[in-house]
Amino acid sequence: MRSEAAGSASPEPAVSFDTVAGMTIASAPEPEATLDRPDTSVASPRPDVTDETIESPGEWWRSAVIYQIYPRSFADSDGDGIGDLPGITDRLDHLAALGVDAIWLSPFYTSPQKDAGYDVADYCDVDPLFGTLADFEIMQNKAHELGLRVIVDIVPNHSSDQHAWFIEALASPEGSPERGRYIFRDGKGENGEIAPNNWESVFGGPAWTRITNEDGTPGQWYLHLFDTSQPDLDWTNPWVREQFRDILRFWLDRGVDGFRVDVAHGMIKADGLPDYTPPADGGSMGGGSFEQSISDNEDEPESPPYWAQDGVHEIYRDWHEVLAAYDGERVLCAEAWVEPLSKLARWVRPDEMHQAFNFSYLETPWTATALRRIIDESIAAFDSVGAPSTWVLSNHDVVRHASRLALTAENPQGAGIGPNSAGLPDAAVGLQRARAATALMLGLPGSAYVYQGEELGLPEAIHLPDESRQDPTWFRTNGERYGRDGCRVPIPWEADKPGYGFSPTGESWLPQPDDWAPLSRDAQVGVEGSTLELYREALFLRRENLLGFGTLEWITGLGEAVVAFRNGDVTVVANTGSVPIELPTGTIALASGDVSGSILPGDTTVWLTTDAH
Ligand code: GLC
Repeated sequence: MRSEAAGSASPEPAVSFDTVAGMTIASAPEPEATLDRPDTSVASPRPDVTDETIESPGEWWRSAVIYQIYPRSFADSDGDGIGDLPGITDRLDHLAALGVDAIWLSPFYTSPQKDAGYDVADYCDVDPLFGTLADFEIMQNKAHELGLRVIVDIVPNHSSDQHAWFIEALASPEGSPERGRYIFRDGKGENGEIAPNNWESVFGGPAWTRITNEDGTPGQWYLHLFDTSQPDLDWTNPWVREQFRDILRFWLDRGVDGFRVDVAHGMIKADGLPDYTPPADGGSMGGGSFEQSISDNEDEPESPPYWAQDGVHEIYRDWHEVLAAYDGERVLCAEAWVEPLSKLARWVRPDEMHQAFNFSYLETPWTATALRRIIDESIAAFDSVGAPSTWVLSNHDVVRHASRLALTAENPQGAGIGPNSAGLPDAAVGLQRARAATALMLGLPGSAYVYQGEELGLPEAIHLPDESRQDPTWFRTNGERYGRDGCRVPIPWEADKPGYGFSPTGESWLPQPDDWAPLSRDAQVGVEGSTLELYREALFLRRENLLGFGTLEWITGLGEAVVAFRNGDVTVVANTGSVPIELPTGTIALASGDVSGSILPGDTTVWLTTDAH
């Protein structure tokens, strides 16, 4: 993969590109020819960061690369086809070897699994599907030994309908303190038969369900922004706030390094719960569209009455204090689909959360103009409150970027893709763009998130049989929206084992595509040019060059389709078009695709360094 860009052999392009001063950049190690498995031998040490090299060496989260583990699809130790905590423990070495700084685990708490664990029935215990609290401790200890921080998910907007709080609320009379934990309202119409308002669930269908009283008569309605099985908690109730402080402390006491906060833009609803009709082409969580992320005009668009209400900030200021009482730099990261970015920045003011997912970046089309714009906007918005920008391309709720970036039809977040979707991607184009997009992302200053399997180049599983689908979106829209199962398929570890090594029995809760053997981890380790090695090399160089703590300086003049910038001693050049361009001088330290000589093909990104002599 590594080669010299023959800058001197061809006329130098007209670019504003200063000579990189001073230092020689260490290159990533060549993959070892005979690499043992598991691939721990290539784990790179944490950089020796001192006060002289960076301003705030202690604040690990400002530059961290955080790897999302979706527990049910990561590694299954007991053979039931659902991943679990001991499975994670067994495979943690691979993540240390990959070179990430932290892991974030999607929920593993007690849950009836109606929304894959985002329907929590006990926030302070582990679901037997995933193991026990002791298994969590073992997993966390091993992660910490390997130098990996551990972030867990917290789901405060709603609980499961199987949570004791809700069961008690149903068994208690209208107006009781138990009912007051959730958002119960009388219906409209003569007999209360009409829902209290017109809100729709994120997963499709109405956001209200009417209960039946113990005597069999129809009762009040309760709000659920998601599935019927996920009643929204009433965050105006101090009792609810107290419970969650205790839940945070429960996990902080056990040593977690922070929380990814689920639906962090949804906990407070507008007074009076007014009717609202969302735009037909919007993403299911609100926010996240490139166009609306840019704060072009003075007037901030009004948020829907259930998203991004000002009242949420008080909650995070409170949580900030809870975390601050602990040593060891514990962090909060907001899952908040909020636009424009200048508004999202309010979630990460100094006394609130530490990070917020940059979904505007995730939704940015693969064009240079859009990417430059969103990068500028992101850095400016987060800088304005002293927070790092984050970058993310995939997670368990969106079409994997190895497919999404080659879609040829609109596909709002949450809709998913399946056999009958319009504009299905060309797999090769998708992978090439995904690799280029990742190489661009990992060159940016700030913190980045990587979703399990993207380091293998996994595409969305498009051809899942209907009967295997499990996302509530699929059921609540009667199959009109495929939903998110396609990005949640268990990941392949070993090409030749049943279930690609995901589970000892070969079982898998969602069927794995037949053609994933070449994408398996063991088929890529040490293989020059593989997606896994690209990630590993990028993460190694990112760490070596402290890119996460760097600053971005644009380079112009390389062409309309090019995104180019310097971050410290590394120059990142991404060609998002189809026409090859000429590279500036420099040594190619990283390339997302085949680069020969000084010509950078379309859909390819390189990192250049300049030798000291
Ligand atoms: C978040 C989660 C998603 C879940 C929803 C409801 O968006 O990422 O998976 O379905 O919240 O908890």
